[in-house]
Amino acid sequence: MLTFAEKKRRHEKIVVITAYDALTAAMVHDAGVDAILVGDSAGMVFAGHETTLPVTMDEMLYHTRSVVRGARSAFVIADMPFLSYQCGHDEAVRNAGRFLKEAGAHAVKLEGSDPGLVARLVRTGIPVMGHLGLTPQSIHVLGGFRAQGKTMESAARLVEQAKALDIAGCFSIVLECVPTSLAAQVTQMVQAATIGIGAGIACDGQVSVINDLLGLTTGYLPRHAKRYADFFNEGLTAVRTYVDEVRSGVFPSVEHSIASPQTKIEEPSADTKTQ
Ligand code: KIV
Repeated sequence: MLTFAEKKRRHEKIVVITAYDALTAAMVHDAGVDAILVGDSAGMVFAGHETTLPVTMDEMLYHTRSVVRGARSAFVIADMPFLSYQCGHDEAVRNAGRFLKEAGAHAVKLEGSDPGLVARLVRTGIPVMGHLGLTPQSIHVLGGFRAQGKTMESAARLVEQAKALDIAGCFSIVLECVPTSLAAQVTQMVQAATIGIGAGIACDGQVSVINDLLGLTTGYLPRHAKRYADFFNEGLTAVRTYVDEVRSGVFPSVEHSIASPQTKIEEPSADTKTQ
């Protein structure tokens, strides 16, 4: 399989999808993705939180181990959760290392711009994917889930951050919810492969949240997300049918039941019973 750098050089789009469990990881791998991101979006789409902030290291290790088991040969990137890398570089290296050592991930992703930390992780042997633009762990500083880099100043800041992450050694940078023109500019300027989500067509690749893609959600679908299936409603219809069939006695039918034995089972003799 080609690396992100080789794909960028050849102008071949890089396809990344999130997964949080072994079965979904197998499906995503079999569909031919380039990498699976065990996103901390798990906190929202899997665990039902309003934001990604409550997600813990233990939860992310559990999801990452599950994905690695199902992912076969796929490249697995583990998302570092809130406060696992912001409280000092030593702790960040230890936590990042756990994803490779204990869960079998191949790389980690972290939000924001800390080039010093990125350089140290890469020196330690941990490949790093950066994440700029709408960084959900900073939701309360950003004032909500809203597009970033729309003013001259914030666009210039994002370009500087991307350059710094690139120099520090990120192999890839996620650009989330930024204008298409800004993502195009960053993609031109950095060696790292840019992976867009709500960042337009010019990025080196795209990442999507699996639940959005499969229609396995109940609420709001972000504008940038495209639904390719309607798993929630298909599942709802199937489960409703099951409920009806159990209540009406249609299920289990003979074909789903264990056949009665042909011969009558002999009662054990009095001698056998006492043995
Ligand atoms: O957690 C996640 O799924 C992400 C992607 C949306 C990039 O960070």
